Amino acid sequence: MMTYACSLLFWRFVFATAVLICLFKDVEVESQDGAVELALMQQFEQFMVEHEKVYDSLEEKMRRFEIFKDNLKKIEELNADPEQTAIFGVNVMADLTREEFRARYLTYRMPDDRRENFLTRLELDHEEEEEDEEEWEGRDGRFGLLKSTKKPKTTTTTYPPPTKGPPPQACTIDWRKISSNYPSVDDQKQCGSCWAFASVGAFEVLLSKSGKTTKLSKQELVDCTKDNDMCEGGWFEPAFKVMENPGLCAEKDYKYTAKNGTCKSKFTVIEKLKSFKDVSGSDSKLIAALPTSPLPIAMNCNDDMQWYVGGVMISKYCPANETNHAVVIVGLCGDAWRIRNSWGTKWGVEQGHIYIKRGTCGIGGYAYQLFA
Ligand SMILES: *[C@@H]1O[C@H](CO)[C@@H](O)[C@H](O)[C@H]1NC(C)=O
Ligand SMILES: *[C@@H]1O[C@H](CO)[C@@H](O)[C@H](O)[C@H]1NC(C)=O
Repeated sequence: MMTYACSLLFWRFVFATAVLICLFKDVEVESQDGAVELALMQQFEQFMVEHEKVYDSLEEKMRRFEIFKDNLKKIEELNADPEQTAIFGVNVMADLTREEFRARYLTYRMPDDRRENFLTRLELDHEEEEEDEEEWEGRDGRFGLLKSTKKPKTTTTTYPPPTKGPPPQACTIDWRKISSNYPSVDDQKQCGSCWAFASVGAFEVLLSKSGKTTKLSKQELVDCTKDNDMCEGGWFEPAFKVMENPGLCAEKDYKYTAKNGTCKSKFTVIEKLKSFKDVSGSDSKLIAALPTSPLPIAMNCNDDMQWYVGGVMISKYCPANETNHAVVIVGLCGDAWRIRNSWGTKWGVEQGHIYIKRGTCGIGGYAYQLFA
C-alpha cells in the first residue's frame, strides 16, 4: 500500500512539475513577446514625438501602431536586399499604409490623349536608346532592372533611422551650387498637388540663381489651373501656362491650404515664367538642359520611396510606361539624379531630396526646361 501511495505521489509530483515547467515556459515566451511589443511601442512613441503625430483616439493610435509595425517589417526586408543601394528607415510616413501613401502622394495625372503620346514617345526613345549604348549603359531594357552594385548591408532597422546611405558620386551639375540661395523644399501635405509643387519649385530654384528668395504660391496654381484637377492631380503644361499668364504671386499672399479652393479674383503677381521647352527624351537631352534650368519631370514613383532615407534608389518595379508623380531634377551625380521632392524636409535625404539611379522609373519621359 505504502509503495503504491508513494509511487502515486511520485507521479503526481512529476506531473505537477511538468505542468509547472510548461506554465513557466509559456510565461517566459509571453514575457519575451511582451518585451518586444513594449520596445516597439516605445519606438512608436518616439516616432510620434519626433514627427508631431497626434491621433484622435486610442483606437486610432493602436491602429497606427499596427501599421507602423507592419512597415518596420517591410523596411527591414528592403534593407536586406543586397542589390538595393538605397537605405530605408522610419520616417515621417512610417504610419501610413501603402494605399494611403499612394492616394496622397502619387497623383500626377495626364489626360488620356497625352498618355498615348507619352507611350509612343517612350517607344521612340527606346529605339534611340539602343543606338546610344554608352548613354544608357547599365540599363536592362527600358524598365531599369539594373546590374547590382553591392553596398554594406544593414541588417536590423533601428530607431533613429540608419545613418544616411553611401553618398552618391559627386554631383557634376548641382543647383545647390548654381543657385546663390537654394530654396527649402515644401510639403504638399494631403493634397495631390505634386504637379503644382514641381512646377513652382523648379521656377523658385531657377530664380534663386540670381539670389531671389521669395517663395511663390502653389495654391494659386491649384485653384486657378483650369485644366487640372486641383488636389486630385494634374500635369505640367496647363500649370506652366498659368505661370506665364497671369504669373505667380507670393506664397504669403496666397497661402497653401492643401485643399481645393476657388481662384481668387485679385492677387498681386510678382513673377512670370517667360517660357518653357519640352526636353523629354534620353539622358543626354536632360543633361544638356540641366545647367540652365532645374527640370520639372514626371516619373513613376515606386511604393518603396515611402521609407527612403538615403543612398541611391534603385526601383525593381516601376515600369516606365506609368507616371504618377511630378518632381524636379536639380543635380547630375554620376549614375544618379539628385531630385527635389515635395514631401517636406523631414522626408528623404538632405532636407527633402532623393537620389535615383538614372535610366529608371520613366525619368525623362516627360521633362521640361524653364526660362525666367
Ligand atoms: C477637388 O477637385 C477635383 C477636381 O475638380 C475633384 O475631382 C475633387 O472631388 C475635389 N475634392 C474635394 C475634396 O472637393
Ligand atoms: C506598363 O508595362 C507593364 C510591363 O510591361 C504592364 O504590365 C503594364 O500593364 C503597363 N501599364 C500601362 C498603363 O500600360
